[in-house]
Amino acid sequence: MASNFISSQTMKTFQEILLQTDFSQSDLVTLLLAEGDNRKLLFQRAQAVKLQTVGNKVYFRGLVEFSNICAKDCLYCGIRKSNEKVARYEATDDEILEACRFAWENRFGSVVLQSGEVSSPAFVNRVVLLLRKIKELSNGELGITLSCGEQSIETYRQWRESGAHRYLLRVESSNPDLYRKIHPENNFHSFERRLQALKDLKTAGYQVGTGVMIGFPFQTIEDLANDLLFFKQIDVAMVGMGPYIEHEDTPLYKFRKNIKTKQERFDLALKMVATLRLLMPDINIAAATALQAIDPAGREKALTIGANILMPNLTSVKYRKEYQLYEDKPCLDEDAELCKNCLEARIEISGCEIGYGEWGDSKHFFKPQIAQIITDYINKE
Ligand code: 5AD
Ligand code: FES
Repeated sequence: MASNFISSQTMKTFQEILLQTDFSQSDLVTLLLAEGDNRKLLFQRAQAVKLQTVGNKVYFRGLVEFSNICAKDCLYCGIRKSNEKVARYEATDDEILEACRFAWENRFGSVVLQSGEVSSPAFVNRVVLLLRKIKELSNGELGITLSCGEQSIETYRQWRESGAHRYLLRVESSNPDLYRKIHPENNFHSFERRLQALKDLKTAGYQVGTGVMIGFPFQTIEDLANDLLFFKQIDVAMVGMGPYIEHEDTPLYKFRKNIKTKQERFDLALKMVATLRLLMPDINIAAATALQAIDPAGREKALTIGANILMPNLTSVKYRKEYQLYEDKPCLDEDAELCKNCLEARIEISGCEIGYGEWGDSKHFFKPQIAQIITDYINKE
């Protein structure tokens, strides 16, 4: 009661909160709950902040989902180990390299290599060789992001040295209790392990991206506000977050009656993107593919109100239906060329420009480094 009383004493207007540069948990909750005119103001402000800081360009990261073999059993994920309905695949080197060549020839600045989580020496070495070959085929021009789950720091280092410079590892929820509710209870799926992996990625020198799912069972609006504060606290370079979408062949499906409607989850995801843009103005924010599973123009809507990264799917069409992390995953039948043409048109409509041939690294990432260089320099004097 006492803390409610104190916060109501501050009584800021919505507009006052919007113009702040720092935000408390309660400010963030207010922004995430915005409806009607306030919702519009939030989106307008986020768009303005985006244009002032990272500009109008959208950077492409061609997504190659190269294997759906996964050792883990996350309770929400369609390709979890225990889902026997999924036909497991591993794309061949040629298929992966061809997708990367397409990205390079079409002047996508970067690719993302994503897979289920496997840590065998054979897998680790395969990724090393792929990284080297992708750098070779593109004269070092393609930027490479990896998204292959939790690995040892040695593996992260080895992949970093072989050419990857960004890594995506969503924390899924920054609330340890909630994390436990959506993962099996064992050390292999522990929250602490996830945090350690994020820390190791930073130590290994990656631009680190994380993110959460929005609107899954048991999650509250306060949890989401805390997730945003968590991103700031660990000083991430990029964030990808999208609506949770139930999958029939997963244990979390049984709680589908306890969640918000898809439209509400979609809207909350947009507000998360806009609010994050205010909280961390110069990071990269991806327009998640899951947005498009709910609204065909979902990703473009996110670009308009704060996101600046898009991941066109370059996975061979023959594998796509086996990489369904959630239901209604879009573009199951569109090959890379079709996806690209359709995206160009959509992005034009959203008023953004495509940053062809540019890596589009996180502006935020370079800031602390510059600060560190200056500190080191001063300390030397
Ligand atoms: N709904 C939405 N996103 C999901 N992911 C996995 N399963 C789902 C789902 N059912 C997301 C997770 C993971 C990313 C690769 O896909 O956040 O980190
Ligand atoms: Fe594969 Fe979670 S089910 S990493």
